[in-house]
Amino acid sequence: MRRHEVVVVGAGLAGQRAALAAVEAGRDVALVSKLHPLRSHSGAAQGGINAAIGKEDSVDTHIYDTVKGSDYLGDQDAIEFFCREAGPTVVEMEHFGTIFNRSDDGSLARRAFGGAGFPRTIYAADRTGLALLQGLWERLGTAPYTLYEEWDLTNVVVRDERVQGIVGFDRRRGQFDEIAAKAVVLATGPAGRIYGRTTNAHSCTGDGIAAAYEAGAFLKDMEFVQFHPTALLESGILITEGARGEGGLLTNAAGERFMSKYAPHVLELASRDVVSRAIVTEVQEGRGFSGPYGGYVHLELMHLGKEKVESRLTEICDFARHFAGIDPVTQPIPVYPAQHYMMGGIGTNVRGETNVRGLYSAGEAACVSIHGANRLGGNSLLETLVFGKQAGVAAAAYAATAPAPQMRDADLEAASAPLRAWSSRTDGEDPSTLRSEMQQTMERYVGIYRNEPDLLEGLKRIRALRARFERVRVVDQSSVYNLNLTDALETGHMLELAETIVVGAYARTESRGAHSRTDYPKRDDARWMKHTLAKRTASGPVLDYAPVAYTRWDPKERVY
Ligand code: FUM
Repeated sequence: MRRHEVVVVGAGLAGQRAALAAVEAGRDVALVSKLHPLRSHSGAAQGGINAAIGKEDSVDTHIYDTVKGSDYLGDQDAIEFFCREAGPTVVEMEHFGTIFNRSDDGSLARRAFGGAGFPRTIYAADRTGLALLQGLWERLGTAPYTLYEEWDLTNVVVRDERVQGIVGFDRRRGQFDEIAAKAVVLATGPAGRIYGRTTNAHSCTGDGIAAAYEAGAFLKDMEFVQFHPTALLESGILITEGARGEGGLLTNAAGERFMSKYAPHVLELASRDVVSRAIVTEVQEGRGFSGPYGGYVHLELMHLGKEKVESRLTEICDFARHFAGIDPVTQPIPVYPAQHYMMGGIGTNVRGETNVRGLYSAGEAACVSIHGANRLGGNSLLETLVFGKQAGVAAAAYAATAPAPQMRDADLEAASAPLRAWSSRTDGEDPSTLRSEMQQTMERYVGIYRNEPDLLEGLKRIRALRARFERVRVVDQSSVYNLNLTDALETGHMLELAETIVVGAYARTESRGAHSRTDYPKRDDARWMKHTLAKRTASGPVLDYAPVAYTRWDPKERVY
């Protein structure tokens, strides 16, 4: 049996940073990933990473902006810690080899991002995630650790009230396999593929979140799903907020700069929930454009000039040209919101600890919570690095004294038996059909605007899909690279998580941040200033609630 002291699952920025920290602490570390690490979804992050550096900005302003952006649901003690770590984290990444854009005076260039009181988003053109990933990957390459690539996570094994290791499916060898570990860090990213229109990569199927949930970890604030205002119309590809930070404008079919109605002070640079709702409202009220892919508005960059657009927004020029057939230097980009980020996830503290002994999480899989009901752009890359490191340090410290893990052959058998049953059925449900019905359901009934009848209908449909999943069938009988099996595994994970989103959204009878209930349009601090906790039971998620941590900022109405 394979054995390591610390197993990190997920090799994006959070996972790599956790692995590096655990190796540096002297532990024997394995990094397990379903992709080559450089293909992780962290590499798709475009616009930048926030840090209050320089004399004009302050850490306190960053903290306040994040608290306000979260619609006062973020834990203020965690946000304070997070924002204080930002400057050192960016400097460290630069020392690891990430090349950021520079201003004329040689200092780190910063651009404006939504909901920020100061332009504090440090960037590498519009490939910031990729630049960070490459820098960290090179640094990690100098450390001794073991990499398991092309592994699908199936289970986290817990016995005697602590983690014993993981079970996964090694796609390359076509075998189920287990790794015994004292500590497991889940940094597997989000589950954005629950939705049909998303900026998330195909790999973002919430495998780690689902495995943690099954292992007894509670999930926090799952109802808060972020929609990015500007995704390319047909494909849902991200068009960075940096485009608006560089001066891009949003216009409707009448040529109006409509954000003046919704956020008179900062217009296009309001927080994402506000801008996404504004775009949907413009389209729903007939002021958008319409076409074969639905309604949309324009993102205009033409006035910025060819040099600025092509040098600062290189990637989105390529995307717009190749995937929409338009040139942003001379033509407006058709955009509409798409699912982008999950504020919810595996509940952790700032050290990445969950309620299961030996189980840690970081990055988008986790919910600390620093983003509360709505995340600010640029805080996600920072989160991966700050909390990836914390989780790696904490897992290493725990593993240094924890007893040896007790994995048994029966663990592998128990984890793999249901999946093997999927392949032995002679008839049953096609996982890709279930997946696409789930995506349509979530899109239609659990989107940007929500209400009780829609949420009830969404829940009914998701539960029906879960029941049908009991009879899922894997037709492909090959062992090596059986992507039919991966598809089924991922779909099961997503259906389970979709249920937690709908149940949490139905219960929360208020509007806060990205959770916008048309039947309860106001924020209700008296009843709902609390985190939702979802605990798995055989009959579905059971909800509980936990208080929000305050330090210095009293809740106020959020105006941009
Ligand atoms: O718009 C963007 O570049 C996305 C950044 C983020 O989600 O932090």
